[in-house]
Amino acid sequence: MKRNIPVAEPDLTGNEAKYVMEAIETEKRVSSSGKYVDLFEKDIADYCCRKYALTTSSGTTALHLALLALGIRQGDEVIVPTFTFAASVAVVAHTGAVPIFIDSKMSDWNIDETKLNALKTPQTRAIIAVDIYGIPANYKVLEAWCKKNNIFLIEDAAESLGGSHHGRKAGSFGDISCLSFYGNKNITTGEGGMCLTDNPDLNEKMRVFRNHGMKQAGLYDHMVIGYNYRMTNVQAAIGCAQFERFPVFLKKRKAHEKLYRSLLKDLPGVRFQEPDDATESAHWMISILIDKDVAYVREKLKEQGIETRSLFKPLHLQPGYQHFVQDKKYKNADMLHQQGLNLPSSPLLTPQDIRYVCKKLKGILKTM
Ligand SMILES: Cc1ncc(COP(=O)(O)O)c(C=O)c1O
Repeated sequence: MKRNIPVAEPDLTGNEAKYVMEAIETEKRVSSSGKYVDLFEKDIADYCCRKYALTTSSGTTALHLALLALGIRQGDEVIVPTFTFAASVAVVAHTGAVPIFIDSKMSDWNIDETKLNALKTPQTRAIIAVDIYGIPANYKVLEAWCKKNNIFLIEDAAESLGGSHHGRKAGSFGDISCLSFYGNKNITTGEGGMCLTDNPDLNEKMRVFRNHGMKQAGLYDHMVIGYNYRMTNVQAAIGCAQFERFPVFLKKRKAHEKLYRSLLKDLPGVRFQEPDDATESAHWMISILIDKDVAYVREKLKEQGIETRSLFKPLHLQPGYQHFVQDKKYKNADMLHQQGLNLPSSPLLTPQDIRYVCKKLKGILKTM
């Protein structure tokens, strides 16, 4: 029987509705102050072993706040992977700085650290490393390189909450880490994000930028030109409920990936995204490369009720970003986009769903 299997779907079957009603009816706090905002920030800061956490309206605004707090501006250069979601690069452009694209590795699909020296100029002020599809980048190398060269490091951990590298949690790397709680992420608040840091000055700067440039609400003293990048208490209520079940979600995601790997292991021409031995994936989007026509495979899967996504189209190929393209080739990013797809990865999937997906995928590949 044909099924209907989405690529990503949040599990909202815990205390989400209860806490939202409590925020509305008992606490009567629907804007951006309230107990759930405080609780959610503490939950995630503790989980990621960071001193400070600030909820934001999205992962994009979290990244923008990070750049603002670090003083990134026109004339600066920020090294970013071309193989990422556009938000990681758009925020650099929003500050007036220039994004400098870097290629990715074919193993874990993350930033290729060996290319950093060639891209460094006197204008290089920061790197935004992206933990793509749930696998943390190689922060052992990145943190050492940034320290040596006096360059800021931002971890775009939008996709990697729950992952780790050398025993440290995703969300704990660099000067500032940024999370997204968009509906398809490992924890969702609908829309939302978070900035994490251990540095009190950076935390205070981000807090001020987040709230119209005000140090204290209600006094109308605007220290800088700020933004409204706040998360609401209602969203944070959903986040608190999600966090309670986060270990369950992670366990399910891990089991799903294991099952996919075992069912597809003998399929010629199929490769998984591979973390190194010191890195644990958060299994956000279980993704593969195939040596066949990906668009055709995705179409055929769709006919069987299976939703997939193509891997990100690199930013150097995007019309809106052409003026930033340096005359370099990004061979791996191109290949990842051409050959890759995200398989259904929701924690709500059952083993039967995964068996169905793999059976159909095998059948399609056999006919090609
Ligand atoms: C790597 C990456 N960075 C940033 C973002 C932006 O997050 P948001 O959608 O919450 O603005 C996303 C995704 O949504 C992402 O995947």
